Amino acid sequence: MPQSPIRKLVPFAEDAKNRGIKVFHLNIGQPDIKTPQIALDAVKNNDLDIIAYGRSEGSDTYRSKISSYYARNDIQVAKEDIIVTTGGSEALFFTFGSIMDGGDEVIIPEPFYANYNGFSTASGVKVVPVISKIENNFALPPIEAFEKLITEKTRAILICNPGNPTGYLYSKEEIEKLSEIVKKHDLFIVADEVYREFTYDGREHYSIMQVKGLEEHAIMIDSVSKRYSMCGARIGCIVSKNKAVISTALKFAQARLSPPTYAQIASEAALDTPQEYFDDVIEEYVARRNTLIEKLQEIDGVTVGTPKGAFYCIAELPVDNADDFAQWLLEEFEYNGQTVMVAPAAGFYATPGLGKNQVRIAYVLNEDDLISSVKILKEALIQYNSA
Ligand SMILES: Cc1ncc(COP(=O)(O)O)c(C=O)c1O
Repeated sequence: MPQSPIRKLVPFAEDAKNRGIKVFHLNIGQPDIKTPQIALDAVKNNDLDIIAYGRSEGSDTYRSKISSYYARNDIQVAKEDIIVTTGGSEALFFTFGSIMDGGDEVIIPEPFYANYNGFSTASGVKVVPVISKIENNFALPPIEAFEKLITEKTRAILICNPGNPTGYLYSKEEIEKLSEIVKKHDLFIVADEVYREFTYDGREHYSIMQVKGLEEHAIMIDSVSKRYSMCGARIGCIVSKNKAVISTALKFAQARLSPPTYAQIASEAALDTPQEYFDDVIEEYVARRNTLIEKLQEIDGVTVGTPKGAFYCIAELPVDNADDFAQWLLEEFEYNGQTVMVAPAAGFYATPGLGKNQVRIAYVLNEDDLISSVKILKEALIQYNSA
């Protein structure tokens, strides 16, 4: 199993903290946004006598309410098209297991969410990367690049929209282009849409589930983790109109019995979160993004585009090896008793050698901390490159 590139530097960060250094975490996607009160209250104010097993596919009431939430987002699915999972992570696991056998291939635009490597390895599936480039702000690679990679073993294309780690939001046209090759080659398209709410500058998210005629091919992965800042609830879901996919995924769901009871109660209540909550959150992320990108672009030798969604960006740094640099930041560097932790981007690529001078930065810290973090990064680069 591959190590998580996001978590592998944790021991170095712990050592730095034990030495009394403050570490700003730009490396993880744990939002500092408050969970909606309505979700917290639902757990506090319920009268369960027994925390019993629930239905393997998730509670009836929760699945019905999720389908209404999707209907409000112009996605027409019934509760029978939904399986509640223990986070988007388990949804990905079940999906890989349901649509692929050992030795099958999945094409994924890289850089991609690093845990896709772990899910593939665990399922014996081979990841075939197709390169998206920082010069194009990580737009969809040309369709011919996908077609060249399709073999008789290819079962699926997996996209993350909006993207972690790129912050790229696929346009309707890009989704439609992808849909065409998926249909032409009779593949599945798995769309990880856990950041669907996080789109900026008036852009709208276009879901794979909105494409007409793609019903048998489309599988959506979703999660409450980021949407409601409920990462520890561990609730997600698989959504597909393909009955064979859902009935196979249900067998995986039965093997693990049921998703967590209290977390489903919280997630169901969270669906009533008022729109103002999201308006405020989006406003906050846009302000953070603008500050972060502006400050990063002021540093000599740093290349970074403006993300259109999610809360990450990939930045190219003037260093040869971002892994070494990230470790050095924690082991050897400090600026006024402070340092930063970044995620080296090589772990988000499957092609060896790519992303070596890139890092992923998450803007889940408040603006003041982001400003301090970029200042520290700037000083660090000066010191690192003059050593
Ligand atoms: C793109 C993407 N997919 C899936 C997940 C899994 O999230 P969870 O299991 O918390 O729902 C994450 C978490 O960071 C993610 O960034």
